[in-house]
Amino acid sequence: MVTQKTDLHCHILPGIDDGAKNLEVSIALLREEINQGVTNIMFTPHFDSDRISVDEFVSARGEALEQLRASKEFAGMDINFKLGAEVYYTVGLADMELEPLCYQGSDYILIELPTQARPHGLSRTLGTIINKGYRPIIAHVERYAYMMSDPTTLYDLIDLGCLAQINAETLVTKTKLSPVVGCLIRRGLVQFIASDCHSRRRRPPNLEKGFAALRSNYGGKYEERFLDAAKQIYSGAAICPEDAKKPKKILGMWV
Ligand SMILES: [Fe+2]
Repeated sequence: MVTQKTDLHCHILPGIDDGAKNLEVSIALLREEINQGVTNIMFTPHFDSDRISVDEFVSARGEALEQLRASKEFAGMDINFKLGAEVYYTVGLADMELEPLCYQGSDYILIELPTQARPHGLSRTLGTIINKGYRPIIAHVERYAYMMSDPTTLYDLIDLGCLAQINAETLVTKTKLSPVVGCLIRRGLVQFIASDCHSRRRRPPNLEKGFAALRSNYGGKYEERFLDAAKQIYSGAAICPEDAKKPKKILGMWV
């Protein structure tokens, strides 16, 4: 039996960002998600406050969803969906009304950070957002050079009240980052994986392979934990990474 999965980060809505370029691609990506056992999906198009207002984004996202819903292929699909966003970090987020950007019906908000340099005021801004009642989820933490060179920077954000996601691809393909990613998983600093799928070939749906890699590299308990966390977050339930532990560097390796 295929395990039921939840995908909390994807770019499947048609024509709104650098993901599915049209309805045909959206339908193909959704078919593949369903083939891999995905039953709950959060549509998370990119949002960047330097490029678009929240109102304009919400309107464009609604139009993209309507285009999808109007298709008879989508109407015949057995999949639950909700709306969200992948919000690019700025200090200005602390002063914005973020509710329209949260995972629908919840306080969770998926936030993407700059990849190379830790942004100024990060802890303060995320702390303000948390104090307002939101729960930031840091998207694909493996992409941030400053977190991979020093994973205690991620621990500090988890300690603040954030959650963290990695892309399934990071588990499927072994790279020089794999040992650090292993440290993040074993230290309880990552709560779930997602596909972050954009297209059929370059960045396809891959949760099936991602969970297989998680199971074989880290064991079934992480698979169960990650499946359950994503399902709980989708439903809007509060989850708490109680077991997060601070990474240590021993003989040049993060453990
Ligand atoms: Fe993304």
